[in-house]
Amino acid sequence: MMKINGVEVDTRGCQTALDVIIKHGFDVAYECKDGVCGACRCKVKGKPRNVKEMIGFYTAGETLVCSVSALSDIDIYI
Ligand code: FES
Repeated sequence: MMKINGVEVDTRGCQTALDVIIKHGFDVAYECKDGVCGACRCKVKGKPRNVKEMIGFYTAGETLVCSVSALSDIDIYI
């Protein structure tokens, strides 16, 4: 189950957490969609399931949402 800002969201049809964020109309920066640029970093709670190697900069408590599975049990804060 994925939440955005504490609200459970529908992840059907999405491959990554970034897809979910875009689907629900949240405004998040992104460029490469490949874990490289770091533009999409967001605060996260839970254990993101990575689907790509995350090369871009992020800190503890953050993740690169373009590289995280939409099936992750996480809470993203934008
Ligand atoms: S969009 Fe570039 S790292 Fe996510």
